[in-house]
Amino acid sequence: MQQGRDGFSSRFGVIAAAAGSAIGLGNIWRFPYVLGENGGGAFFLVYMAFILVLGVPLMLTEMSIGRAGQRNPYGTFRFLAPKTKWYLVGVMGVAAAFLILSFYSAVAGWTLQYLFDAVTDGFSGKSSVELNGMFESFRSSTYAPSIWTLVFLVMTGCVVVAGVEKGIEKYAKVLMPLLFVIIIILDIRAVTLDGAEEGLKFLFHPDFSKLDSKAVLEALGQAFFSLSLGMGTMITYGSYIGKKENLFSSATSVSLADTAIAVLAGVAIFPAVFAFGIKPDSGPGLVFITLPNVFQQMPGGYFFSVLFFFLLVIAALTSSISLLEVVVSYFTEELKISRAKATVISFISIGVFGVMCSLSSGPLKEATIFDKTIFDMFDYISSNILLPVAGFLIVIFTGWKWARKSVSNEILGKDKPETSLFKVFMFIIKFIAPFAIALVFMNAVGILDL
Ligand code: PHE
Repeated sequence: MQQGRDGFSSRFGVIAAAAGSAIGLGNIWRFPYVLGENGGGAFFLVYMAFILVLGVPLMLTEMSIGRAGQRNPYGTFRFLAPKTKWYLVGVMGVAAAFLILSFYSAVAGWTLQYLFDAVTDGFSGKSSVELNGMFESFRSSTYAPSIWTLVFLVMTGCVVVAGVEKGIEKYAKVLMPLLFVIIIILDIRAVTLDGAEEGLKFLFHPDFSKLDSKAVLEALGQAFFSLSLGMGTMITYGSYIGKKENLFSSATSVSLADTAIAVLAGVAIFPAVFAFGIKPDSGPGLVFITLPNVFQQMPGGYFFSVLFFFLLVIAALTSSISLLEVVVSYFTEELKISRAKATVISFISIGVFGVMCSLSSGPLKEATIFDKTIFDMFDYISSNILLPVAGFLIVIFTGWKWARKSVSNEILGKDKPETSLFKVFMFIIKFIAPFAIALVFMNAVGILDL
């Protein structure tokens, strides 16, 4: 660790913080609705394949790059590949963090409003139609969503400003175990609902006729998004991991935890979607419309609704912290300003874009580019373009530019002989990952027509 540089203090802290970044709205809000829009089970299988073959190796790669560089993503590439243009990958990462945090904090703002509604018993006695109307009228209004977005960003800023060990790690260590417990309680409730089987069938029974090239890219984008890859988060967190930690086991534990939570979220949501006759392809409103519906029709609904929206807030917070940390570490290290100043500057600039995203379901609905609102555009550019492209460049860097010896020193320990697992990993990084990412990407954007 560089002299005086902040960092994680324990192995559990590393995993909790990185899992905190990975597990988020991507698992509980985005995964179910993207899966719902792309036909269910078949999408799920492709998603799992991407996590295993591309996600885990890429996470390991990013953590290694970060730990070797001991800097923010931009500084790390400058350090590892001086006098080249590789630092642009770091720049892309910081840009992606900016875009993602903007729309992410808008959705997180919705979760705060819904937590508030849950606590004040705002769902009870409402029909499905009324709950749908409630969500639509809330998200299309002007003040409430914008204010909640800013409140959420302030919460994020308060953790980040406290630093890596005393802020990020401290909160993740408490919040992540809590999140696991809550989601398991919700799952038990969901699978014991009448008619739960149909939802489980939708999730686990693959129907490949629903799978097209767009769905495959969506699955790749979702896998990267969910694991927080392709944008420097894991590079940044990697730079805070002590030299003694085994990165291989950290990367696998985090990927496993993230996938488990996505599955558990699917299991909590789809039985309810089907049991109450809601369409699985209802889009971003899925969890906000479906779950209040379910909660108020079941015994103990008040308790479960508070629990669920609390879970969403926690999940969102530990992820947004990691997004903000990318931007803040860049500002502090490259512009040499204090953490507090960097946090405030980031808050103001991301706050402006965050409010624009939150308004794009309402007053800014008509402000579209290529038929997409600002919110959709930020989501699309970051998840389906920046993450795959940066992910591609990161594997090329590791497989072809970075010395193999340095990769093995970082992953296996200094001057240790290569294991067979490491050889498999290098083969994936050199040949399979770049090829697969490029193929999926070009096919979906139409450069290639498979
Ligand atoms: N992985 C987070 C989630 O699933 C989102 C995220 C993406 C966080 C990219 C950091 C970087 O919600």
